[in-house]
Amino acid sequence: MDSFNLENLVRNNIRKMRPYSSARHEFSGEATVFLDANENALGSPLRFAVSRDSSPLNRYPDPLQHRLKEQIARIKGIPPSRIFLGNGSDEAIDLLFRIFCEPVTDNVIICPPTYGMYEVCADINNVKVKEVPLQSDYQLDLEAIAGSIDVFTKLIFICSPNNPTGNSIYREDIELLLNNFDGIVVVDEAYINYARQRSFLPELTEYPNLVVLQTFSKAWGLAGLRLGMAFASEEVIHYFNKVKYPYNLGEHTQALALEALQQMEQINDWTRQTVEQREWLAKQLAELPVTKRVYPSDANFLLVAMDNADKLFTYLTDTGIIVRNRSKVILCDNSLRITVGTPEENQQLLNALKAYNA
Ligand SMILES: Cc1ncc(COP(=O)(O)O)c(C=O)c1O
Repeated sequence: MDSFNLENLVRNNIRKMRPYSSARHEFSGEATVFLDANENALGSPLRFAVSRDSSPLNRYPDPLQHRLKEQIARIKGIPPSRIFLGNGSDEAIDLLFRIFCEPVTDNVIICPPTYGMYEVCADINNVKVKEVPLQSDYQLDLEAIAGSIDVFTKLIFICSPNNPTGNSIYREDIELLLNNFDGIVVVDEAYINYARQRSFLPELTEYPNLVVLQTFSKAWGLAGLRLGMAFASEEVIHYFNKVKYPYNLGEHTQALALEALQQMEQINDWTRQTVEQREWLAKQLAELPVTKRVYPSDANFLLVAMDNADKLFTYLTDTGIIVRNRSKVILCDNSLRITVGTPEENQQLLNALKAYNA
């Protein structure tokens, strides 16, 4: 990756701008009287602290989430200086556009069918999207990607395991992109906890152009908290911090996430159960006459090709079971994306599908 030059890749205005400097940013020593941030010194109507050692809510939270990052760093084996935390990984996706993509001029590459927010964020930021569909085995079309890259291509989004297909993308293919693309390769690992494939986190030291996204919304069971992570070089994280809103994560998010991180065993146990249920459900679904194909999954959902997905989707909705109809999506004809539920929910789904056949 000799030709990678971060400073050339970052938008001019972002490189040159002076970031907002918050009161809590500027002061890092010990003090007892805080008259610097125009907070309400008398208190907060929410009188109970979020957790045992969180700060009261009348005070602004730590803008750089030091304690939470230290804890995540310990678990992931990545230094805090290489971590960005945001309001879901969606915030990190949006910031990547704002840091690297000049509206109108620049473009990004996505490989549909894939997670919808890459395109939504591109549209919001007025950045052109080049779509290079996956091949029929849901792996990257490397030749077509190479053919689509031009001097204005800043980001390539790779979702692995991919949503909605569920498969992991071949590691060697991602490495090939990392070795040959001068822009940023974003590897979205939202579902990595459920995967057989290893995370790309250890590769961060190898590739200055790698950004890995992970989230607390899936295996960590905290979709309601809104907490996502981006891991990258210190230099890239510096730009994330420069562009983000000063206090992008509330005190409650930071404090509750710290508490959740104490419960690794529970999370690992749930992950094991979900993977077990995924394999069981895949087998059961494959035996139904209405099922055409259950695609192998490395995630907590299954993509299932059906006889008539639209009709089946409506039928399931009528019985009170909501799945995701992906049949209008490229390469997903007649397919439903089904999240792995509790054993009872999975059984309920199967019962409904069996009743449909009858
Ligand atoms: C591949 C992928 N990336 C990112 C996200 C968003 O995660 P978050 O809840 O952290 O914004 C999702 C959510 O479904 C996803 O499927």
